[in-house]
Amino acid sequence: MARNGKVSVIGAGFYGSTTALRLAEYDIFETVVLTDVIEGKPEGLALDLNQSRWVEGFETKVVGQTTGPNGEGYEAIAGSEIVVITAGLPRKPGMSRMDLIETNAKIMRAVAENIAIHAPDAVIINVANPLDEMTALAQIVTGFPHKRVIGQAGMLDTARFTHFVAEKLGVPVGSVTTLTLGSHGDTMVPVASACAVDGKPLADLLSADEIEELVVRTRNGGAEVVALLKTGSAYYAPSAAAARMAKAVHEDSGLVMPVCAWVDGEYGLSGAYLGVEAELGREGIRRVVETPLSDAEKALLVEAYEAVKAKQGDVKDL
Ligand code: 2OP
Repeated sequence: MARNGKVSVIGAGFYGSTTALRLAEYDIFETVVLTDVIEGKPEGLALDLNQSRWVEGFETKVVGQTTGPNGEGYEAIAGSEIVVITAGLPRKPGMSRMDLIETNAKIMRAVAENIAIHAPDAVIINVANPLDEMTALAQIVTGFPHKRVIGQAGMLDTARFTHFVAEKLGVPVGSVTTLTLGSHGDTMVPVASACAVDGKPLADLLSADEIEELVVRTRNGGAEVVALLKTGSAYYAPSAAAARMAKAVHEDSGLVMPVCAWVDGEYGLSGAYLGVEAELGREGIRRVVETPLSDAEKALLVEAYEAVKAKQGDVKDL
């Protein structure tokens, strides 16, 4: 596919800058814009990224832009087809994603207002935590159609689950299929019935206890990295997940991915952002795909829905 279009990444922390790097290295966008409120940081990172172009062999240009408290600098994102929101605080050891809600809601409001002004046709991919709630807030503030506001989490949680299964069985990650739905938090639903290795059901290869151990590790996957890093949270796997979603939107690929999307009757659930499988294309979410679930998994998905729906009801007041 020819190189074209513009994608913007808001927030030049590790998550944002790594996402910008991946998007630039795909060499499918004309421009990647990276913004941050820290004076000079996005410009410096953009310069550094551009200087890697010859070595890595990509032509995409990276533009860095400091933004101000009154939206100064946001003109740089004008015309973006996709905006990835990474702005917000990461967790510290011992914190839950929900502990970030008030601080990150303030940041999200400011960011989303500026996206609505400067990139009104964009598809938003939010990664800020708590994920499901901040995605809901981005939609409320921008007023964009629900299908154009998506959250990244299922891809990441699925990637973690896949890694743990591959590591446990000593097989290539490419031979493993896993899936997680639900929330990006305590009510994450790793779907063991959809997991397989080279087409063999995971339940034939590992005991129920062994699978449960991997499920628990997946659910705590982000916290495990936070505890080790001590400052900041994960960004290599998260940015890989977010960048792949942006690529699917840009290429109008129709790929089905686990993402945080608005449910409108699927699984009998409506009116909330929830981790589900969905087909991605230029317009954002083309459709939510209902994955066959066991009764126990369906019950866990409903539990996750109820938890996120209750919280999302409050975000408009934050
Ligand atoms: C994680 O799980 C950043 O929430 C993200 O690592």
